[in-house]
Amino acid sequence: MLKTDPIGIFDSGVGGLTVVKSLVDKMPEENLVYFGDTAHIPYGEKTREQLLTYAEEIMEFMLARGCKAVVVACGTHSSVTLPAIINNYRLPLLGVVEVAARQAAAATRNGRIGVAATQATVNSQAFTRSINNLEEEIEVLEIACPRLVPLVEAGQLTGKELERAIKEYFDPLLAWQADTVILGCTHYPFAAPAIKRYTGDRMNLIDTADATINELKKILAGRDLVNDSGQTPRRRFYVSGEDTSFYKVGRILMGDIIDKVEKIDISKKMEQ
Ligand code: DGL
Repeated sequence: MLKTDPIGIFDSGVGGLTVVKSLVDKMPEENLVYFGDTAHIPYGEKTREQLLTYAEEIMEFMLARGCKAVVVACGTHSSVTLPAIINNYRLPLLGVVEVAARQAAAATRNGRIGVAATQATVNSQAFTRSINNLEEEIEVLEIACPRLVPLVEAGQLTGKELERAIKEYFDPLLAWQADTVILGCTHYPFAAPAIKRYTGDRMNLIDTADATINELKKILAGRDLVNDSGQTPRRRFYVSGEDTSFYKVGRILMGDIIDKVEKIDISKKMEQ
């Protein structure tokens, strides 16, 4: 493995770009391979079996690209498939659940943490388990927010429809008096300004991106794999399906860092 090998990052769509942004800010020299599985979005509605198939295909793709580490920049995969596949690979494989749980447990003052996430993530209760492994007495309320991913993917980061969805999902968390809420789906930080406008300073929003990249930096430093080559980084963005909205919405967040999006089929074809 070389320091100049790329870091792999994947999600169902643009969500994982919130983690890429943090990588580019904190480790600007790193080469990167991003995979947005837009052919299968939304992950939140998929079964565990479907998600396991996608995770294995994506990991094969990342290994074929020579990645030195992979960040599962997706709350759904981090919750549902990562615990099952993590021991199958020798390279560092890092998800967003545990880092977020640690951050939230340190931030809460009243011991009530909310989690806004996809339906599949909520069904898994992975955030609740991670938080309660750290501190048993913390109470956790997980709320599924299925309308947020399609709105973010469509670039609707303001407007009435987004406001209505935020009200529906965050009212129960406000009523329950969660003082800290984990944005447990990596798409949601795109909507964070609108969420913040609604919740004001009544709750602390935890975005998993920075904490995940800080953790990655530590892991790579421990293996002497931080890229310090001084070369201009190569960053490649792939999607399995829709690429136009990925490019458009991606550039809202990343600007010129996304100059091109490549469409690729990584699925193992069913034998005839
Ligand atoms: N951004 C992903 C997550 O963090 C996937 C959302 C989806 O495709 O439903 O859960």
